[in-house]
Amino acid sequence: MERAGVSHDTDSLAAETASSGLPPEAGSAEVVVRELDENGSYIKHRLSSADAAPDYRSRRIKSFVVREGRLTAGQEHALTSFWKDYGIDYENRLLDLPAVFGRKAPLALEIGFGMGKSLVEMAARDPGRDFIGIEVHTPGVGACIMGAHEAGLTNLRVIHYDAVDVLGNMIPDGAIDRLQLYFPDPWHKARHNKRRLVKPEFLDLVIPKLASGGVIHMATDWEPYAEQMLEVQRADARIVNMDPAGGYAPRPDYRPLTKFEARGQRLGHGVWDLLFRKI
Ligand SMILES: C[S@@+](CC[C@H](N)C(=O)[O-])C[C@H]1O[C@@H](n2cnc3c(N)ncnc32)[C@H](O)[C@@H]1O
Repeated sequence: MERAGVSHDTDSLAAETASSGLPPEAGSAEVVVRELDENGSYIKHRLSSADAAPDYRSRRIKSFVVREGRLTAGQEHALTSFWKDYGIDYENRLLDLPAVFGRKAPLALEIGFGMGKSLVEMAARDPGRDFIGIEVHTPGVGACIMGAHEAGLTNLRVIHYDAVDVLGNMIPDGAIDRLQLYFPDPWHKARHNKRRLVKPEFLDLVIPKLASGGVIHMATDWEPYAEQMLEVQRADARIVNMDPAGGYAPRPDYRPLTKFEARGQRLGHGVWDLLFRKI
């Protein structure tokens, strides 16, 4: 069985490219391909340069680069056994959210949850809210599903796909009460900055999906990216900074320390949270 993963070492493009076999900005984007058995269990997952990818993908710069990764036995077991409880298959049509969760509740949508530990913790602490996590890193998806199962969660679902496609094709307008983007890949080098998710086009995708009064919550430990997040959001008249001073916000109590953040703290990095509300 093929294994798939996504690099977190975002400046090692040469190595990543070698493993994916594609130059990072080559036309054929790589996507997650999955197969389900007759019970709807997740039996195979791989990333391929896809014929399945719609044409517009080829003009898009991806925020991640794919390479092989390893699944632990626990992650594999979780994907096989619990995908049917927690996984939502990527499809090119809008989700029926009340049908997904069996109720109507405020929705938090998290992009790039990594291994999902903090997302599971948030969902466990906030049972009145529904959570959807989107991640391309297969071991992270497995780990998140494992955590959700262990916690017995009913208010969390995951989608194993590029969040840009998910937002564009699966999330109804006005559906999200809180968009969470915690420690997105910082793409440190100037020549890679264009891969950063947060730019005006990203807000064009996200803002229509927010309910009125919905919140965009970002956090990063890379100051130049924090500055970019602030600048891009300040320039958008559809949202307003919730920080009274118009700058960065203190970390709200509902956001646990993430795995990536904890690593940054050990390295002495600062952390910047940003909260903007849709007008
Ligand atoms: C630096 S990690 C941070 C993970 C986690 N939020 C944390 O703080 O520990 C960024 C994550 O975003 C994911 N990612 C990047 N671009 C993505 C996209 N377009 N769609 C879904 N996930 C994406 C990566 O796979 C990676 O796991």
